[in-house]
Amino acid sequence: MSETMRTLEVTIDGRPVLAREGQTIREACMAAGVEVPTLCFLENLAPVSVCRVCVVELEGSRTLVPACSRPVEAGMVVHTDSPRVRTSRRMVLELLASAVDLSAAEEAVGRWLKEFGADPGRYGPSQERPWTAQPAGHHHPPETGRAATVAQPVKIDNELYVRDYSRCILCYKCVEACGVEAQHTFAIWVAGRGFDAHVSTEFDVPLPESACVYCGNCVGVCPTGALMFKSEYDMRQAGTWDPARQTVTETICPYCGVGCTLALHVQDNRIVKVTSPLDNQVGHGHLCVKGRFGFAFVQDFGDRESS
Ligand code: SF4
Ligand code: SF4
Ligand code: FES
Repeated sequence: MSETMRTLEVTIDGRPVLAREGQTIREACMAAGVEVPTLCFLENLAPVSVCRVCVVELEGSRTLVPACSRPVEAGMVVHTDSPRVRTSRRMVLELLASAVDLSAAEEAVGRWLKEFGADPGRYGPSQERPWTAQPAGHHHPPETGRAATVAQPVKIDNELYVRDYSRCILCYKCVEACGVEAQHTFAIWVAGRGFDAHVSTEFDVPLPESACVYCGNCVGVCPTGALMFKSEYDMRQAGTWDPARQTVTETICPYCGVGCTLALHVQDNRIVKVTSPLDNQVGHGHLCVKGRFGFAFVQDFGDRESS
């Protein structure tokens, strides 16, 4: 913290709280022990404020404000748990859960559905996945009484990671990681408008034909399982994926002198995926293709035995 940084007094849920100038409302809440739900926020990315699940009531403001990006100001009076806030968050979560497959997003989204009493079923049962040759992002209009969904076929077009945009909450984290926040590759962006907005490569080409360099930084930030290591996807399909039997061991990437920290997720004595801690000073949670996916050589037992 800079020596000249001022301290401000704000009121959060009726309690006076000291915050630092430049902090966001979310940061001031966290420092005061008040949890604010987030979906599109991540510590190693700039806030894009698109999910609106973090909104809080600010006295004097006509609209609810996003706590993840709104800076604190002296004298602010903030309510994080008012009926208006809870109603708004519940609505956002219900709409998401009615349209998106959140079955692999218990930690990121499921807990908030319960916390805010979201009932996505009130929009009607989800439209069946009509996996015809529809173009990505062009959902079928729902049948009467059914909720529209973002369902589309799973994209498996390379050996490293799988894209299942039926699970995508459009949080923009992958787009940010691929773009200005980490990789500067811009292989993916949001195409379409309104309900048809979806993450896509240029002209929806398969990944091997896109600008993707397979750094996997998009996979590393995706909170819902929409982007998944192929190794994890295959194990889930086979019913063998079991986080309870996995250990996570941190080590330093052996490939170059930058020295990124790798977190090796191991199940049954095999590396099943590689992440990197967000608070790592070198890569801030981001890696390159070698650190992220280049782990096969350490466990190529078959080759070693036959040589
Ligand atoms: S793997 Fe890297 S380059 Fe490819 S889409 Fe993801 S973030 Fe972009
Ligand atoms: S694919 Fe994942 S990271 Fe990207 S927008 Fe969808 S949910 Fe967010
Ligand atoms: S976390 Fe604030 S808008 Fe998404």
